[in-house]
Amino acid sequence: MYSPNPLCPPPLLWRVSALVAALSSLAPHMLAGQEHIDHKPVVAAGSPAAKVSGPPILVNASRKPGTVEVTITAEPTRVSFVRGASTPAYAYNGRVPGPTLELREGDKVVIHFRNRLPEPSTIHWHGLHLPVVADGSQYHLVPPGGQYDYEFTIQPGTAGTYWYHPHPHNTGHQIAKGLYGAVIVRPPRDPVPAAVKEKVLIFADNRFTSDGSVDFPDPASIPGRIDFENGREGPILFVNGSVMPAMNIRSGEVQRWRVVNASAARVLRLALRGHTFLHIGNDGGLFEHPLEVNEILVANSERVELLVRGTGKPGETAVLQTLPYDRYIPQTRPKDWSTPRDILTVQYTNQPALQPVKLPATYRAIPALDTAKSTATRVMAMSQGMINGKLHDMNRIDVSAPLGAVEIWQIENLVGMDHPFHLHGFQFQVIDRNGVPAPFRSWKDTVNVPKHETVRFIVRYDKYPGKWMFHCHILDHSDHGMMGVLEVK
Ligand code: C2O
Ligand code: CU
Ligand code: CU
Repeated sequence: MYSPNPLCPPPLLWRVSALVAALSSLAPHMLAGQEHIDHKPVVAAGSPAAKVSGPPILVNASRKPGTVEVTITAEPTRVSFVRGASTPAYAYNGRVPGPTLELREGDKVVIHFRNRLPEPSTIHWHGLHLPVVADGSQYHLVPPGGQYDYEFTIQPGTAGTYWYHPHPHNTGHQIAKGLYGAVIVRPPRDPVPAAVKEKVLIFADNRFTSDGSVDFPDPASIPGRIDFENGREGPILFVNGSVMPAMNIRSGEVQRWRVVNASAARVLRLALRGHTFLHIGNDGGLFEHPLEVNEILVANSERVELLVRGTGKPGETAVLQTLPYDRYIPQTRPKDWSTPRDILTVQYTNQPALQPVKLPATYRAIPALDTAKSTATRVMAMSQGMINGKLHDMNRIDVSAPLGAVEIWQIENLVGMDHPFHLHGFQFQVIDRNGVPAPFRSWKDTVNVPKHETVRFIVRYDKYPGKWMFHCHILDHSDHGMMGVLEVK
């Protein structure tokens, strides 16, 4: 049963016009510190010398495909997110982010989920192609104290970087409290040379009150309504749970970065001073060919894979930043939105330069889904908080389609802020943006649709029937009903 979160204001308040009216009745100086009105956030950074460490690997992939059986427990704990504060948090297996799951194509996976939280929860395997009963959507809530077994087989061709997070009716709240983790799926033969070291980098942001608690303002307050509008952002940026950590690279070395943006709303625009990236993959795995870029946009819930070449000299440092990205409507755009922010220090060791490893020019073949085979076009018009003018209803099917069908989805953003659109269950291929063909093929499960733009993608409902969610991945939007249901049967 869908019951709206009692903590949230009624959908009426959701309207931009209402918020704008409320904002314009405030003195301008009150808008300036909009993240902070009535809240004194903790600004102290964590230990600056912290080394980036990946979350522990729960199961690793240095083995043959087989049966993988693990237990993941979600429970309340306290975490020192920022120096000098102890924050009441939620954690998977006691840590934030949760352990990384390393899986292989062909693995049969059994995850025993124990919910020790004081509220219903689930684990959703964002991007994985699996049976609907293992999808962890709000159709399969696990009550407090309950347990659930997620069982699925990792399908061939799905190697890539994914993530897991809860998916109840207050997903934003539970992720902000610390529930998120990475999933890596490995292919039988990885085209990236084995000499290339791999780093899993899970980015998230958060905001805390002066007593160290995760800051969830009263939804009826101005900060609460700004969160509601923009999606909740925080001034403190985390990499694998640490603030501004350092990571070593050796001159000449190539590293493979698997990046997950686990933020509720923040869009990352990553750049590493003095370096370019080789962009080799995104949500659904590797591209056919690498792409050299100066910076990379990663919307919340998207993933990218980058090859980072250590072109600096021994002893140098470089700072990974997120550059300004204007995803906001002007009325609620944060005052400091245009300031670049440091996230991570890349420290060159003093070792002599390595001979660069030879990188492949082709990673894999991605067969095109054929638009001529499409049997329907689904138009999704996103307004502020709604899809096709409707709020989510668990008892309504918004799209019904036969198993195996190939269809085109046309996602229209009618409003002046970006909405990242996510489909459960099936990876898709972007066809075009505002009519301009996508420059190359890739598998995606989330696509950011910038203000007033239209994106079309093509998808095949392979293998798994059921009721699948689609939604804006700004968690404040999806939790308040910017979501629909696709039934495949
Ligand atoms: Cu990442 Cu429906 O979720
Ligand atoms: Cu998902
Ligand atoms: Cu949205």
